[in-house]
Amino acid sequence: MRYLSAGESHGQKLTVILDGYPAGVYIDPSFVQKELIRRKVGYGRGLRMQIEDDKVNFTSGIRFSETTGAPITMEIENKDFKNWIDVMSPFAKYSENRAIYRPRPGHADLAGMIKYERKDIRDILERASARETALKVAVGSLSKILLAYFNIKIYSVVWEIGGKGIDWKEGLKKILNKKEDIEKLHNFAEKNDLRMPLRNRKEVYNAIDMAKKNGDSLGGVFSVVVKGVPIGLGSHIQYDKRLDSKLSSNLMSIPAIKAVSIGGGVFSSELSGKNFQDAIYLDKKGVYRKTNFSGGIEGGISNGEDIIVTCFMKPIPTLLTPLPSLNFKTCKAEDAVYERSDVTAVPACSVVAEAVAAFTIADAFTDKFGKDTITELKRNYTGYKKMLAKLWKKFI
Ligand SMILES: Cc1cc2nc3c(=O)[nH]c(=O)nc-3n(C[C@H](O)[C@H](O)[C@H](O)COP(=O)(O)O)c2cc1C
Repeated sequence: MRYLSAGESHGQKLTVILDGYPAGVYIDPSFVQKELIRRKVGYGRGLRMQIEDDKVNFTSGIRFSETTGAPITMEIENKDFKNWIDVMSPFAKYSENRAIYRPRPGHADLAGMIKYERKDIRDILERASARETALKVAVGSLSKILLAYFNIKIYSVVWEIGGKGIDWKEGLKKILNKKEDIEKLHNFAEKNDLRMPLRNRKEVYNAIDMAKKNGDSLGGVFSVVVKGVPIGLGSHIQYDKRLDSKLSSNLMSIPAIKAVSIGGGVFSSELSGKNFQDAIYLDKKGVYRKTNFSGGIEGGISNGEDIIVTCFMKPIPTLLTPLPSLNFKTCKAEDAVYERSDVTAVPACSVVAEAVAAFTIADAFTDKFGKDTITELKRNYTGYKKMLAKLWKKFI
């Protein structure tokens, strides 16, 4: 499976074409819509999210609610476009209205304007904007629909924002040691606008309010867990077939994600081999581990355990009290420009990361079990499970 996205933050619309999605999958558009609403929420987000309704328009690849195997096109109108027609229409008359000449540190602004030889930095920031993550969520929701046929489910929780909340090392260790149930944490977190499995969140709200007051911004840490992934997705045989490599690369493609840890990767340098590797056991249901420091992937292949990834998001780069920069029009040192912005977007980012993880696993799943139809996938998956059951029986 692959997708190609297009569209600018304040352009007419966002468009994505998802290719390689199997035929015969029943699509409920209301599920896609619900996922997009999940991305919009989050304490500390800017006004833009109140303007956009992120309504998805499906224009190809689906008939009578079933996928046909043809590329699926999804479009999301930017409601704010009506305020930007003179600036963002492809053939509008040239104007310096809303042109930007002072790059914002932490954005693609400076490197992008030089690379593409653009005078107006808007040419860069409109496309670099995380508005594109709405499309990632749309693709991810179709991936989740496919994975649900095979009882593969995705969960996520935010641990920390600006260093406040739940100590992410403690939270993650409980999951790696199988002392905490991610589904329970996720269900709790889903009910609050920080997406945190924490009853008293006052400190976090205060930190976000304080950052806003100071013209500052915050980043944070969250984990995504995929349950029900069978043994054997991805491969050790080539660098670009490794599941851990695909997962981390795709997650790093989310703007502002600066580190991705698989399982206990972040602890790997401080633990000994005996404490890090997950011993292999077998019961009636099959092979299992008592710990999951490998995060469900060994040698680039899923091992049947939950896939666990933890992502680290940097503080939002646009600042209400901007940092020193340069004015490329006057050729003088000046502070960076301010463009409407979130103070933090960690809760939204965790929803985007769920979507990206879903896409990555769906891609690997169809790689192994068939890409053409849902019936082919079911047939092959059932056969595979029977083969495994036979194998485990030999030990008992
Ligand atoms: C859901 C989400 C929302 C974001 N919102 C903003 C924002 O409002 N303002 C901003 O400056 N950056 C925002 N970012 C981060 C920037 O898009 C990102 O830092 C920037 O494009 C530079 O990319 P890099 O941090 O990966 O180098 C957001 C990121 C995500 C995932």
